[in-house]
Amino acid sequence: MEKILVTGGAGFIGSNFCNLNKEQYQITALDNLFLGDVDNLEEEINFVEGNACQKSDLNKIGKVDYVLHLAGTSSAPMFMDDGFVDGYVNSIQSFVTVLDWARKNGVKKVLYASTSSLYGNNPPPLVETQHVIPPNHYAVTKEVYEHCSACYNKVYPEMDIIGFRFMSVYGKNEEAKGIYANLISQFCWDIGRDLAPVVYGDGEQTRDFTNVRDVVAAITLAIKTEKKLGADVFNIGTGRTTSLNQIIAAINKSFGKSIQPQYIENPVKEGYVETQHADISKITNKLGYKPKIQLEDGIDEQVKNLRMDKIRQSSSDNFR
Ligand SMILES: NC(=O)c1ccc[n+]([C@@H]2O[C@H](COP(=O)([O-])OP(=O)(O)OC[C@H]3O[C@@H](n4cnc5c(N)ncnc54)[C@H](O)[C@@H]3O)[C@@H](O)[C@H]2O)c1
Repeated sequence: MEKILVTGGAGFIGSNFCNLNKEQYQITALDNLFLGDVDNLEEEINFVEGNACQKSDLNKIGKVDYVLHLAGTSSAPMFMDDGFVDGYVNSIQSFVTVLDWARKNGVKKVLYASTSSLYGNNPPPLVETQHVIPPNHYAVTKEVYEHCSACYNKVYPEMDIIGFRFMSVYGKNEEAKGIYANLISQFCWDIGRDLAPVVYGDGEQTRDFTNVRDVVAAITLAIKTEKKLGADVFNIGTGRTTSLNQIIAAINKSFGKSIQPQYIENPVKEGYVETQHADISKITNKLGYKPKIQLEDGIDEQVKNLRMDKIRQSSSDNFR
């Protein structure tokens, strides 16, 4: 069985990747538990507590065929105030350390998380060829990943380094992320507790909500392909865009409730993303990816899988 190291493996996307692929790969999850939770992982997954910035921790893993690098400072608000220096250091240091460790240990491919935040308010649909100007520090770190991968791959073309610009990912195992979790999770936690979800503006802003199981399927296609991908970068989304009002209606339906949102003036004065809508033709054409999970089914599944005892905090808690 081929072996995979997943950094950030106890986090939201990482744990879903590990659990969904446990039958076909031998997987080790490395996580420093900054945000992750070991309980996200099923027992077949080998868990190592450690820091992806440290070669000595990576050396504990042994030989692997692939590395999926998801560790890092995973959202823009984490770079505010005291998080600024740590956010940059953690994200950049972990990426370059993992990259170099992987090549020196004969890894076939490194796959890593970039972000759709890079697109800011570019006109939809968002295409990989668009010019991007990262609108915040978080997005800057991901653009650095992409440029660094391109340079590294020129010098060492034997190892593919493939980036993914995830759209708005939702699904199981987000409880540990609290206020950094996807809006679908936060709205589910609110409505599940009979609280009104807090919505910035009129709720007509849209996102390309993508189920984490589709994200895992897309990454797995990139691992399996025999095509040489170099330092390619792919959008992962659905190609559909949905408003927050539609999301709240779907969550209410799933719970059998009718809780109305609390609309507030948008506190984000600059760069708030109004529309997110991916063009997924590149990954569809090159890797055969097709999103399978209908949003309504994904929301029903999420409502059924909620672990209310594990919820840390949702954004609406800040406004009560
Ligand atoms: N969730 C989304 O919608 C989304 C969208 C675009 C990009 N991404 C990117 O995908 C990746 C995974 O996102 P997620 O939503 O699962 O976030 P997450 O915060 O749940 O997962 C990241 C994990 O990395 C761990 N971690 C952080 N620094 C580490 C380090 N130095 N060493 C070891 N572990 C470390 C954290 O404890 C956490 O478990 C992140 O890089 C994020 O920026 C996520």
